Amino acid sequence: MTILDGKKVSNDIKDEIKAEVDKMKANGEKVPHLAAVIVGNDGASLTYVGSKVRACERVGFESTMVRLSSTTSEVELLDKIDELNKNEDIDGFIIQLPLPDQIDTQKVLMAVNPNKDVDGFHPENFGKMALDMSTFIPATPFGILELLERYNVKTDGKHTVIIGRSHIVGRPMSILMGRKGFPGNSTVTLTHSHTKNITQITSQADIIISALGVPNFLKAEMVKDDAVIIDVGITRVPDETHPKGYVITGDVDYEHVSKKASFITPVPGGVGPMTIAMLLKNTLLARDRHRKAKS
Ligand code: GUN
Repeated sequence: MTILDGKKVSNDIKDEIKAEVDKMKANGEKVPHLAAVIVGNDGASLTYVGSKVRACERVGFESTMVRLSSTTSEVELLDKIDELNKNEDIDGFIIQLPLPDQIDTQKVLMAVNPNKDVDGFHPENFGKMALDMSTFIPATPFGILELLERYNVKTDGKHTVIIGRSHIVGRPMSILMGRKGFPGNSTVTLTHSHTKNITQITSQADIIISALGVPNFLKAEMVKDDAVIIDVGITRVPDETHPKGYVITGDVDYEHVSKKASFITPVPGGVGPMTIAMLLKNTLLARDRHRKAKS
C-alpha cells in the first residue's frame, strides 16, 4: 500500500512555484496577488482562508484577506466583487464558501470576472473545463488529478466511483476522470444521496473518490482489494481529549480500508494541502493571463 502524501507533494509544488516567483522578483516583475473574501465567522472557513494566505506568503505571492461581517448584504458583497474585478493589482480572487443565507451564492459566483476566477466556479470556466478547453480547474479536483499523476496511478480504463455530487468536488471530478488523457479515460459512476445499494457499486470500483463529509462512511467491506482510495472528507468531530476540542476526520475508515487499498490519501495530509497548492497554481496562471492581456 502506498500513501498518497499530499503534504509532501504540495510542498514540492510550493517549492516549484516559489522558484518561479523568485525569478519574477529577480527580473523586477510584479509577483502574483491573490485576494480571498470571507463573509462571517465560521471557524472552519476562517482556518481555510488563513491557510491560503499563509501559503501565499510561503511562495512569495502578495495576498489580501477581505473580511466581511455575517450580516453583509448581497449588494454589499457584489460591490466588493466589482471592486476586486476592477483592481489591476489583483490577479485572482476567491469567495470562500459557504455564504450566509441572505446571499445568493450563484449570483455571487456569476459576478466574478472569469479571468480572475481562480476557484474555477464561474459557469464560463466550468463549461470550458467540461469542453476540455484551457481554464481554471477547481482546486480540489485539480489537486486530486495532480496527486494521481505524480504517483503515476493508472486511471485508463478503470472504474472510478465518486461519492457526492457537490459543485466544488464531486461534479467536476466526474467530468475530469472521464476526460481523454491522463489522469482520465476512466469509466465514471457518480453516486449521491439518492443512490441505491451503494456498497454494490463501491465494491466494484478500481478508484473511489469520496467527497461526502460523513466521518468514517467508507468501510473496508465496501471496498475491493487493491482499490485506490481518495478521501476528500474533512469533518470536525468533537473530541475533548484534543487541545482544539475536535479532530479532523475523513470519509474513510482509514484503519481498516488502508489494509485493502493499493493507494490511499490520509486525512489530514492528503487532499487538503493539495487544494491550497493548486489554488496557488491557478493564481500563477491568472497572473500570466493578466500580463498577456495587458501586453
Ligand atoms: N469551501 C470549501 N471548499 C472551497 C473551495 O475550494 N473554494 C472556496 N472558495 N470555498 C470553499
